[in-house]
Amino acid sequence: MHDFKYKNSELYVEGVPVRKITEKTGTPLYIYSYNTLVKHYRAFDKAFDGYPHITCFALKANSNLAILKLLAQQGCGADVVSGGELFFALKAGIPAKKIVYAGVGKTEEEIAYALKSRILMFNVESSDELAVIDRVAGKLKVKAPVALRVNPDIKASTHPYISTGLKKHKFGIPIREALEYYSLASKLRNVRVIGIHKHIGSQITNVSPFVEAVKKVLSLAKGLRSAGLEIKHLDIGGGLGIPYNNEEGLPQPEDLAKAIIPLVKQYDFTLITEPGRSITGNAGILVTKVLYLKQQLKKNFVIVDAGMNDLIRPSLYDAYHHIQPVKKSSRAVMSADIVGPICESGDFFARDRKIIRPLHGDLLAIMSAGAYGFSMSSNYNGRKKAAEVLVKGEDFFVIRERETYKDLVARTRIPGFLK
Ligand code: LLP
Repeated sequence: MHDFKYKNSELYVEGVPVRKITEKTGTPLYIYSYNTLVKHYRAFDKAFDGYPHITCFALKANSNLAILKLLAQQGCGADVVSGGELFFALKAGIPAKKIVYAGVGKTEEEIAYALKSRILMFNVESSDELAVIDRVAGKLKVKAPVALRVNPDIKASTHPYISTGLKKHKFGIPIREALEYYSLASKLRNVRVIGIHKHIGSQITNVSPFVEAVKKVLSLAKGLRSAGLEIKHLDIGGGLGIPYNNEEGLPQPEDLAKAIIPLVKQYDFTLITEPGRSITGNAGILVTKVLYLKQQLKKNFVIVDAGMNDLIRPSLYDAYHHIQPVKKSSRAVMSADIVGPICESGDFFARDRKIIRPLHGDLLAIMSAGAYGFSMSSNYNGRKKAAEVLVKGEDFFVIRERETYKDLVARTRIPGFLK
């Protein structure tokens, strides 16, 4: 479900041809569709209608302020994992009461910032962290609202780097020991226990791990409630997978909701979800220009102007991203590695990929790049971070300017003895 379509062999985002945008902005360029973003958010949020819920977009997937503002206008909350993400969420107008804060390594400074901002709750990952939250809240004379992130020991069948719900992972507290942790938390003077949190991984393409995990967490929640704890918020995390290669039959937010709501129906929780990828993933593309074609020992390379610093997913997870021409042609199909300019063999977007033979200067669209694309980008190899554009109907707006060389050195300082 997205708004990147061909009209007369030309790729459009909503009503605007991609080429027209790149003529103004250059490449590499991230382009997002307003309409797709809104549709994805609404589909997710609506799926849980009928049960009290808050949809907290996981900012790590994409934290461009314009996109966050768009989501905030739709009523979205935020799942943040750092002071920086909290700052973005608040700046975009997401109400503090719709912000949850996870992460295994929150600093005291970040905890204080979140307490002062009066966020909905901390998703706490260890007893050490509980103690620090208690201390910082005490200093600020407030009560810190917390949920404990439990690790339900469920296999999420996804890439090992983005699976989080197994015993061996650093995340959360073991579900078997959860009662002790909750009992500890309930004794802390400056902490108010209000919920329970779990997240088992990302790009999960089947609802059954979600169901299994929620069942485990529910039986814990029941135990906690009968022990007198106020478990109001049930946060089931994010992780719903999306198609990267036109895969059919993947579960939709509706399917997730249909599987989860019957399990929680009899309890009066506020259900929190933390979707990231399923909102922005297929709402964005990375457009890149072909710089060179190179043939070596019968292997073809298409060298493009985007690199692993712009989109690291293929290099890091061997992730598949569909790559298509911005202008379709009838040239022959070839098999090639599509690679960037960075000095690493791991700098590729596709290997042995069948594509229509491109010419120098052709534009390629790397699809499904709206989540964990720009947000994971870097300046490696002295590269300027890409620009970002939002398309709405017939109009487009630069929502992040391309960095300049000056930006690259803006915060470095030369000590006096070198001047
Ligand atoms: N909540 C928590 C606690 C998380 O750790 C994550 C993702 C999410 C929500 C959002 O998950 P989503 O709905 O986007 O699957 N960089 C990797 C993905 C890392 C995900 C980390 N946590 C990638 O590019 O595939």
